[in-house]
Amino acid sequence: MHKPFYITTPLYYVNDNPHVGHAYTTVLVDSIARFQKIKDREVFFLTGTDEHGQKVFEAAGAKDRTPQEHCDLYVENFKSFWEKLGIEYDHFIRTTDEHHYNAVQHALKLLWDSEEIYQDNYVGWYCTPCERFWTEKDLKDGKCPDCGRPVEKLVEKNYFFRMSKYQDWLIDHIKSNPDFIQPESRRNEILGFLKSPINDLCISRPKERLSWGVELPFDKDYVCYVWFDALLNYISAPGWPDHPDRFEHLWPADFHVVGKDIITTHAVYWPIMLKALGIDPPESIFAHGWWMVEEAKMGKSLGNAVPIPKIINLFGKDAFRYYLIAEKVMALDTQFGFDSMIRRINNDLANDLGNAVRRVIGLIHQNFKGIIPEPDDATELEIALRESAIDATEEVNREVSNMRLSKAMEVANRLVREINRYLENTAPWNLAKEGKYERLATVLYNAAEALRIASILYWPVIPDSCNDIRFRLGIQEDKILLANGRDWGMLESGNKIATGKPLFPRIDEKKVIPILKGEDKEEKTDKGKNLVDIEDFFKAKLVVAQVLECVPAKNADKLLLLKIDIGKETRKLVAGLAKWYTPEELIGKKIIVIENLKPAKIRGHVSEGMLLAAEHNGKVKVLTPDEDLPAGSKIR
Ligand code: MSP
Repeated sequence: MHKPFYITTPLYYVNDNPHVGHAYTTVLVDSIARFQKIKDREVFFLTGTDEHGQKVFEAAGAKDRTPQEHCDLYVENFKSFWEKLGIEYDHFIRTTDEHHYNAVQHALKLLWDSEEIYQDNYVGWYCTPCERFWTEKDLKDGKCPDCGRPVEKLVEKNYFFRMSKYQDWLIDHIKSNPDFIQPESRRNEILGFLKSPINDLCISRPKERLSWGVELPFDKDYVCYVWFDALLNYISAPGWPDHPDRFEHLWPADFHVVGKDIITTHAVYWPIMLKALGIDPPESIFAHGWWMVEEAKMGKSLGNAVPIPKIINLFGKDAFRYYLIAEKVMALDTQFGFDSMIRRINNDLANDLGNAVRRVIGLIHQNFKGIIPEPDDATELEIALRESAIDATEEVNREVSNMRLSKAMEVANRLVREINRYLENTAPWNLAKEGKYERLATVLYNAAEALRIASILYWPVIPDSCNDIRFRLGIQEDKILLANGRDWGMLESGNKIATGKPLFPRIDEKKVIPILKGEDKEEKTDKGKNLVDIEDFFKAKLVVAQVLECVPAKNADKLLLLKIDIGKETRKLVAGLAKWYTPEELIGKKIIVIENLKPAKIRGHVSEGMLLAAEHNGKVKVLTPDEDLPAGSKIR
């Protein structure tokens, strides 16, 4: 039996909000994981946040928060961002999680006891933004060779990991495992790097300089270097060292997917750390290229210029996911542009895929009372369409196995264009006019069947839209399997189809680009009208709650004191509703509340949230869900 397919993203620093670069790696890993799922493989998809170290410490300080408070806030931004992008991870690790913290200390202790870690004086040059030490010869014009910023000279007692002693082993491992570092350009880069002797790695930071990190178990005046801590997440999350059975079941990881900026830490430090701990290395490390704006890598400032929530709001999350995956050859750098995004969505999704679905569903609706008809014998045209669909399935499988997802999307697009060409060649609209219903049934069945297969091929990248296509085709079963793409004829005649709005409405470039750039007139006048930006609106978390208890407040005759159930816990709420409701009328009612409002004191009573109510002509009524939904249901 196959072990689960274990794939990871890097752990993102919580010094800022997620941007396009983070979105890309995570959507990419989500899509690869979903491709495995449709191959019926069990998947373990790990992502999370890197919370220790200088960067996070400074970001918290700049906002007047403790590092822990800062992390607790920012981690939520990442989690809700992933939810908005439809990311289905299996585990979200935070490096401040107790289990991870203990695992890091355990690893340090093992390495200290086996003398893989030693103490020495460190003389070096430190780059604070990159959190890296450099030797004199690494520096470029006296500055950090990575970011070009000034560095600081430091001499201090520190702890070192004997990395250099494993250099030959690593070279050998890379050479004898051609897929270990992918793509080949990165493999060559690392082999080039390993031609010169590598240094031992300084893995400690004195607490007097940085207190925010995992304390060294053998010297309480030091914390662990943030990379040494963070890399260990890949083994701590699947259970090392406390849950050996689970760990054995999942390790080694099939893929660590990272950006090319962090290939050295992943392809040099990490396998050597594992080797010293006596643990097998991961199967593969894949480093993708960057999203760029003009000549620069998108990062904190440039990346934040792309208003992802606005994009999702305007085009839908699937369209954005599709752009990220279809536009970018994984290994290379790619320009990010609103023009290229709109062109892709319009051409591939609105014109080709959307159009094919609209035609097939529309014609079945008009001519067969919304029931998928029974096909008659296939002509050469149907046989060719079937061959195309089966070939496309094989090809997509091959491209994904070779980590070429943009190619896989090209193959799926080609199949959709075949379907449209088939419709043009068979002209079902004319068959309908001429009353040739038998032939019409055959054509529409075959086109619908090819669409079913296309919906499997696209599903990992645009899952919701594909679920929608399947729903429109009346397909009941939930499990989507790539193998079914080779089983021509699975679509059941007699299925009741569903009509609906266009899957991907055509985007009017002239209208949306000013909105995306924040230059639209509306937006400018919005400011005057006090309109709320969608990003701000999404900050409020609304949920369904049930009123458990309700009593009048003794010291304020307008107030009622409520105890409510919000699914995961109970809360106290103060509401100025006494004029409109008796306590009995409210008890048991399902209401809508803002869950993440800062608690406030109203006439001495703490209110941990706020309920929504509407007012008309001086009358106030609480808002309730249209159907009886459980407490804790999220409002989207
Ligand atoms: N915390 C470390 C990783 C530790 S992993 C044990 C880190 N975090 S990060 O927040 O800076 O995220 C880096 C990752 O974000 C990159 O490796 C890459 O996956 C993604 N990207 C950030 N900017 C990017 C682009 N402009 N383009 C594509 N992806 C990039 O490094």
